[in-house]
Amino acid sequence: MIVCHCRGLSDDDIHQAIDWMRAADPTGLITAGRVYRALGTRPDCGGCISLFVATMRTNDKLDVPAELTGLRRSRSEGALP
Ligand code: FES
Repeated sequence: MIVCHCRGLSDDDIHQAIDWMRAADPTGLITAGRVYRALGTRPDCGGCISLFVATMRTNDKLDVPAELTGLRRSRSEGALP
């Protein structure tokens, strides 16, 4: 299914980029902008962003790395300097 008509990106393109990015960097944050860059392009009109992000969220490799979860809570509780 085509997700981004301006750039001709499909849901498969997005999932392949996320899979590649997670394999290359197990702890890196994966954003829509980084997915576009990994695919060698960038958004144009921006009309697809909500569908683009919704497609990204269906990929189980998009999870925030465990090392980065709970940082806000930990800081407010004084656990971190
Ligand atoms: S449809 Fe994706 S940038 Fe325009």
